[in-house]
Amino acid sequence: MLSECVEALVQSSSSVVVDLTFGGGGHSKEILKKLDSDGKLYAFDQDLDAKNQVVGHRNLKFSLSNFRHFGRWLKFYGDEQVDGIFADLGVSSWQIDAAQRGFAFRFNDGVLDMRMNNDSQLTASDVVLHYSYQDLVAVMSEYGEVRNSKSLASSIVDARVKWKGEVQVSQFNALLDRKYIGDKNRYFSQVYQALRIEVNDEIGALKEMLQQVEKHLKIGGVLVVLTYHSLEDKLVKNLMKSGSLDGKEEKNDFGQGLSPFKRVGPKFRVASEVEIEENNRARSAKLRVVEKIK
Ligand SMILES: C[S@@+](CC[C@H](N)C(=O)[O-])C[C@H]1O[C@@H](n2cnc3c(N)ncnc32)[C@H](O)[C@@H]1O
Repeated sequence: MLSECVEALVQSSSSVVVDLTFGGGGHSKEILKKLDSDGKLYAFDQDLDAKNQVVGHRNLKFSLSNFRHFGRWLKFYGDEQVDGIFADLGVSSWQIDAAQRGFAFRFNDGVLDMRMNNDSQLTASDVVLHYSYQDLVAVMSEYGEVRNSKSLASSIVDARVKWKGEVQVSQFNALLDRKYIGDKNRYFSQVYQALRIEVNDEIGALKEMLQQVEKHLKIGGVLVVLTYHSLEDKLVKNLMKSGSLDGKEEKNDFGQGLSPFKRVGPKFRVASEVEIEENNRARSAKLRVVEKIK
């Protein structure tokens, strides 16, 4: 949905827009093509590998930062309100494809790491080694909807007594091999997703970021978001519908809704079969677009 995102986001060649999730720069590159010398793109990513892929461009300012701080950066750059904000949430394919980053169970190799920001302290190995039984149950059930989260947490607590140093992907996979129920791939994906969300505080960062969007969009500006799982999608949907993360819209004395946003186009769009064939991650993608109207 690359072209749909960029079409929705860049309304004129002089637009000032934000790409909160630069990744490999695929979207940013297309955005830059649509801007003339008056346009600007502020891009963010918390991963040093993303920064290392940035190709300098006169319209681009890249900040190596968690997007939860994007408002402060815009203030720093003197462009507090912009015409468009874009986020393509989650992990990049190149993060998943790097065995040493520990995001993917298919490699069966390396440390269970999963940090998008290599400077942050907490790794997935730490979660597995040090979280209490109750906290492990909460992570697995809330972030991964893992059906046997209690039994899995209790097996982790038993197994880790024998684990020395950092937990290896292969060690963890061997445990999951004994625990999975239903479809094996789905089960592993759910557990890995749960750990990744916890390690990167994805829900906390998303909430903080979404709460700043209204302030930093001009009237007529657009918010364009690609989500990949129901937890993040629910927060984005709530904000877009009601202006608040809990989905409750404030009303005036006449009962009229006060949401600052209006939907643009359908409720959400999904990827075409061709896109899904090219990129399996697109299977779960939902694209949502709103305009700030007041
Ligand atoms: C799905 S990828 C983006 C891909 C990008 N749109 C492209 O075309 O290459 C998501 C990127 O967002 C980054 N990311 C995820 N959460 C972030 C956060 N809270 N702050 C900053 N970057 C984040 C990840 O490091 C990853 O590189």
